[in-house]
Amino acid sequence: MNSSSEWAPRLRPGDSPGVLDIHDVSVRFGGLTALDSVSFAAAPRQVTGVIGPNGAGKTTLLNVLCGFVRPNTGKLTFGDTDLTGIRPHQLAALGIARTLQNVGLFARLTVLENVMAGATCHARAGFWPALAGLGRSDRDERTLRQRALAVLDRVGVADAADSLPGQLPFAHRKRVALARALVAQPRLLLLDEPAGGLTETELPELGQLIGNLAVEASVVVIEHRMDLMMSVCDMIAVLDFGKLIAWGTPQQVQADPAVTDAYLGAERSREREEPEPPADGLPGAGGDPPGPGGGSPGAAL
Ligand SMILES: Nc1ncnc2c1ncn2[C@@H]1O[C@H](COP(=O)(O)OP(=O)(O)OP(=O)(O)O)[C@@H](O)[C@H]1O
Ligand SMILES: [Mg+2]
Repeated sequence: MNSSSEWAPRLRPGDSPGVLDIHDVSVRFGGLTALDSVSFAAAPRQVTGVIGPNGAGKTTLLNVLCGFVRPNTGKLTFGDTDLTGIRPHQLAALGIARTLQNVGLFARLTVLENVMAGATCHARAGFWPALAGLGRSDRDERTLRQRALAVLDRVGVADAADSLPGQLPFAHRKRVALARALVAQPRLLLLDEPAGGLTETELPELGQLIGNLAVEASVVVIEHRMDLMMSVCDMIAVLDFGKLIAWGTPQQVQADPAVTDAYLGAERSREREEPEPPADGLPGAGGDPPGPGGGSPGAAL
């Protein structure tokens, strides 16, 4: 593995991936303030958590970091790179990868092909030209395939390489989405609810994987599963109605009455406002950007 130059690590041992600095970021959607002067910094090679009740602005923050949403005010930097005006297509070249809250895999590509698509910035010939039979380099494609298989193995779904995503349980699709992010060897990894669909017994394994990833990259993770967040995060930012209401170690935020109030308040207003759920209804989709490829070569799952 990593024998050819296109897979050379982006960082030499000892290099720092850089601090992710979020400074005074505000986002407004019409009359709604989704983020309100949010500031915190994610240290290199640490796991930084972002928690908060539904609608707190967590996914919006990731969308800002990825250039899907423009902040109305504020500045974002990653090391020496200004991310404030970044475009989504620049992410891979900057070493930034993300998983979506709603998975977002290509439905008509196999699991392996989905993961290979995440590595296009590394391969000389590239995955899409290779898929179309253009400028194809057998060696590049072989290397890409081996790399994708190794990452699938790392997240525990290598045996599903030839399946279509729709054939897999949701929790396994989440793992494939993580593999697609990892295959690009990111310096900054942004994970939106990676534990969605996982059972309690699967959480410790995911926690271990996320902890291991922080050896190579800075990790920012959004998650509602508090047991996972308390065990895996070095620092946690707590958002509520777009405001940063707490910042500290897991123990500090857990003991912060403002955090308890925010979750209890959300719980109470849900109880007050929630109509009877439809018999076969699904929860809302959240603030994910569009899935990959806009429907070609397959709608996002
Ligand atoms: N593109 C958009 N246009 C208008 N409003 C939006 C848009 N994206 C998000 N919002 C609103 O901004 C607020 C924050 O949404 P966001 O998806 O960031 O919350 P979240 O913390 O990720 O919630 P959840 O835990 O449910 O995923 C919500 O009120 C949401 O409805
Ligand atoms: Mg969200």
